[in-house]
Amino acid sequence: MQNFHYTNGQLCAENVPLSRIAKAVGTPVYVYSATALAENYQAFANACEGMGALIAYSVKANSNLAVLSLLASLGAGADVVSGGELERALRAGIAPQKIVFSGVGKSRDEMHKALKAGIYQFNIESSPELIALNDVACALNTRAAIALRINPDVSAGGHEKISTGKAENKFGVNIDQARDVYKQADSMAGIEVTGVDIHIGSQIDSLAPFETALLKGLDLVRDLRRDGHNILTFDMGGGLGIVYNQDEDTLPSAADYMDMVSRHTKGLDLKMIFEPGRAIAGNAGVLLSCVRYVKHGTARNFLILDAAMNDLVRPALYGAYHAIMPVKEPMSDQTETYDIVGPVCETGDTFATHRRLSVMQSGDLVAMLSAGAYGAVQAGQYNTRPLVPEVLVKDDQFSVIRTRPDLEDILKQESVPDWI
Ligand code: LLP
Repeated sequence: MQNFHYTNGQLCAENVPLSRIAKAVGTPVYVYSATALAENYQAFANACEGMGALIAYSVKANSNLAVLSLLASLGAGADVVSGGELERALRAGIAPQKIVFSGVGKSRDEMHKALKAGIYQFNIESSPELIALNDVACALNTRAAIALRINPDVSAGGHEKISTGKAENKFGVNIDQARDVYKQADSMAGIEVTGVDIHIGSQIDSLAPFETALLKGLDLVRDLRRDGHNILTFDMGGGLGIVYNQDEDTLPSAADYMDMVSRHTKGLDLKMIFEPGRAIAGNAGVLLSCVRYVKHGTARNFLILDAAMNDLVRPALYGAYHAIMPVKEPMSDQTETYDIVGPVCETGDTFATHRRLSVMQSGDLVAMLSAGAYGAVQAGQYNTRPLVPEVLVKDDQFSVIRTRPDLEDILKQESVPDWI
């Protein structure tokens, strides 16, 4: 994985041994490489150089303020889906003119906040949402720039829970109804129609579904222009997958993806918007954990870690594969097959089954790879386990970018009514 390598027998993030971070911060802990984040962003930026495109990093993938600030310093915009994410993006110094607001259920308060901030575009997903935005914009005596998110009815690989572009999914406006909704939008005093938006899913491992959806979207752009709408932007959403399993996954690069897009959009005079999340953060981070116990059962051997499904839910929720590496470089060929699990009281708290690793002992450290996206952001406190902290590494230095709350922090948010 990018910028995570063995040096002198120790798995390092850039030039910092993970064992050093474990000692200083404790485990479990997320560790990100600033260089990998920057390289991944830059791969997108370089691939669309000259297109005048907006790369709106999808904040949901990893929303830590330090990560956002780093990307802001490189010129990234943001794709946000809540008032909270908008606040993070603004505090990280992302210019409002580079922020798009997506999501099926924006509240009026969130719309208000985003209009006040002066964001670039709202991606609108239904006619009732459009009506609400018009109301809020009119009350503020302003106009909201909108793109309609089109549901192109394209099947986009990935896991069924993260596929969004099929007609039966809750997302977007059916492409056949789109022209009517654009007509409705055009008649609204608080709405300015500016673009078309699609997002068909996540962890997509080939260009074909993107291309099919793009071509459908571009046909719509032509129809809309013929209908008299001033379509200036085209938002491709996110979705480009990453390698989770070195032995099995092959993925198109950001450059392959952009080549395909620019081939079809050349000469159309559209400002392209991209919302990559996973492709920027996914392979820039690991979840570092310690083996609590090695349990030799009758049917299986278990590595019981101090990380659990509440810290990294992807395997439990999507059956997702994460490669797992010992932090101490294996020095012999001796291996053992383990089920790698957490301490939470559910069988679903399993990170991997039948995984062959060097022989492990209690106290050994392991890194779960490709955990930089949809890791920390999806963590919870199930079993009253404090939220896992985050660390950012650059060269030979590291900083804690989110601390581990102590038990008091958690318990003080709760109260017992005096009628009990
Ligand atoms: N834009 C929109 C409107 C989205 O809904 C998403 C992701 C993205 C952009 C960024 O997609 P990406 O480039 O990261 O694929 N929790 C799941 C992934 C959920 C993705 C949700 N939407 C996981 O852990 O795999």
